Amino acid sequence: MKKCNIYLIGFMGTGKTTVSRKLSELLGFEEIDTDAWIACQQGQSIPEIFESYGEHFFRDLETELLHRLGKEKHKIISCGGGMAMRQENVTLMQESGVVVLLTAEPETILHRVQGDDSRPILNGNMNVPYIQELLAKRLPYYEAAGEIAVATDSRSPQEIAEEIEKKLNSGKIYFDF
Ligand code: S3P
Repeated sequence: MKKCNIYLIGFMGTGKTTVSRKLSELLGFEEIDTDAWIACQQGQSIPEIFESYGEHFFRDLETELLHRLGKEKHKIISCGGGMAMRQENVTLMQESGVVVLLTAEPETILHRVQGDDSRPILNGNMNVPYIQELLAKRLPYYEAAGEIAVATDSRSPQEIAEEIEKKLNSGKIYFDF
């Protein structure tokens, strides 16, 4: 079956939301940000959802959303950084789209997320050793889920979006434009 959605996955601060915007301009697909969608549906910010109901509840909302998105076509879906940690999520994404992994070095990530308190996982842990350790734990999951990987350090969202488009066009991916 041809795949017709693009899922952007990767650690916090790898540029999923900004790259999704550029890719949306480039391909003319609508973009959906899973964090923004969940916050809007719940009428609460992500930190408020974590605070009120806990992380597990938030993770269930993510999985529920992926079940709905599987029926969509030609969407660019920018996923929260924990999305690839559940095998059920990975299966849902791979069945309905191409999974694109964005990567960055811990120092780049820290630079991008510093001063932003909207990520409960990083609040109180804004330092390179913590990011490095969590990234090392998550990397095998990200790498197993991603069908295309793009490094984002020192590159503009436009360059990254163009590289993704090129890889989708390479013939190695069965993508339906
Ligand atoms: C999370 C990443 C966040 C958001 C939530 C949890 C994570 O999304 O889903 O705070 O566990 O990595 P971004 O990757 O868009 O920051």
